[in-house]
Amino acid sequence: MTPLRAIKGMNDVLPDQVGRWQRVERLYARVMSLHGFRELRTPLLEPTPLFVRAMGEATDVVEKEMYAFEHHGDALALRPEGTAGAVRAYIEHSVSQREPIVRWWYAGPMFRAERPQRGRYRQFSQLGAEVFGDEGPGCDAEIIDMLVGFLRELQVPGVEVVVNSLGGAEARARYRAALVEYLTPKASSLSAESQRRLTTNPLRILDSKDDADRAAAQGAPTLIDVLDAGDREHLAKLREALDALGTPYSIDPHLVRGLDYYTRTLFEIRGAHDKLGAGSTLVGGGRYDTLVKDLGGPAVPAIGFAAGLERLLIASDLEGPSSVVDALVAPLGAKAVAAGLQVARDLRGKGIRCEVDTRGTSLKSQLRRANALGARIVLILGDAEIAAGAVQVKDLAAHSQETIQRDQAIRVVVDRLIAAGRTVDSPVKASATDYTAPTTPEEDTP
Ligand code: HAM
Repeated sequence: MTPLRAIKGMNDVLPDQVGRWQRVERLYARVMSLHGFRELRTPLLEPTPLFVRAMGEATDVVEKEMYAFEHHGDALALRPEGTAGAVRAYIEHSVSQREPIVRWWYAGPMFRAERPQRGRYRQFSQLGAEVFGDEGPGCDAEIIDMLVGFLRELQVPGVEVVVNSLGGAEARARYRAALVEYLTPKASSLSAESQRRLTTNPLRILDSKDDADRAAAQGAPTLIDVLDAGDREHLAKLREALDALGTPYSIDPHLVRGLDYYTRTLFEIRGAHDKLGAGSTLVGGGRYDTLVKDLGGPAVPAIGFAAGLERLLIASDLEGPSSVVDALVAPLGAKAVAAGLQVARDLRGKGIRCEVDTRGTSLKSQLRRANALGARIVLILGDAEIAAGAVQVKDLAAHSQETIQRDQAIRVVVDRLIAAGRTVDSPVKASATDYTAPTTPEEDTP
């Protein structure tokens, strides 16, 4: 029988890789918490009209990439991004009535039926955030600066921030008209897709990867040309704040993004071009000052971003954890297994990650297992050790081995691991110097 395979563009993340994922996710959660953001979790399935209304009918995501289906008469879609759900939740729970400024972050899978390639998948994960209630350019600058700092922590090389302003609805309408006027005489040289976009969503033509479209769009009027005084001032203040923070960026007046809800500040952060090539956009974000109202909520300005986690992992030079456990308990023979399980339980009680090899196999094969798990210490229990109430503590890095009484072994192992700079859970650190055995304290004097 042919074995079943995962859906194309939807990948397993095996435990060897999960360690790196978790490292990036934890760093992100920490950065967000340092900036006063709290985590939001919304459903993976939402009513299809939410995405259509939020992202715009004439966007690639809505037109071609949504996993949308009917279920018992309801139109449902797997979320292709996180902003729409966050805005829905913000409105549905009347959050604006309780909190003037809301800072939410989220992480999780998104779904888009795109053509899979390196850095582009059908199920992918985003690390995102949304801020509601702050329309100031200082907020935009803080977010961009925060992201640059996060990418630095991830050791992503070649980070570039690109900023543009889309202006408000009126400026965009003026721009749309100017663009159509400029491109209409060149319509026959545009790709079929862009000819259609000329009437449905002309701004998207600027984002086309087609060479003919790019050539036609060269010299097109820019959004910055049509901004009104308020929009210009907003952009100028954002630039001032970024300059004051020393955050490097460039302005690209032709930058547009694939979703219709953006107003004013728009940005992309790229990096690791060597590894990601044309798909080097790591983070996309911007303001959407009218979306909350457009979706039936109060008139509250907002800004947000999302980073593709898989792309960050390709771009980042950070390594994953080098070990699965700190110690391996190696009982030699079936009789020693129960004693080994007890030793392991005591070690774990002190925050030491450990595994017991309960197979009762040879010491050689258990040492091989210890190496494979990245364990530094092996606690060997044979018949002689059990008879003597002892355990052999083998330090694989120091190439040492000593026989130690069972009731003192835990402390010795804790001390060795800490001295070796292993990150062990805090209970170990806290009690390392004043350890007393949980069972018979009187036997535990050093
Ligand atoms: P987006 O530009 O569609 O924006 O996606 C943001 C990031 O998600 C991209 O820069 C990329 O890193 C990653 N990404 C997108 N599609 C894929 C894919 N098929 N495979 C792998 N990674 C992908 C948004 O989603 C907006 N919701 C961002 C936002 C939040 N704007 C305001 N608030």
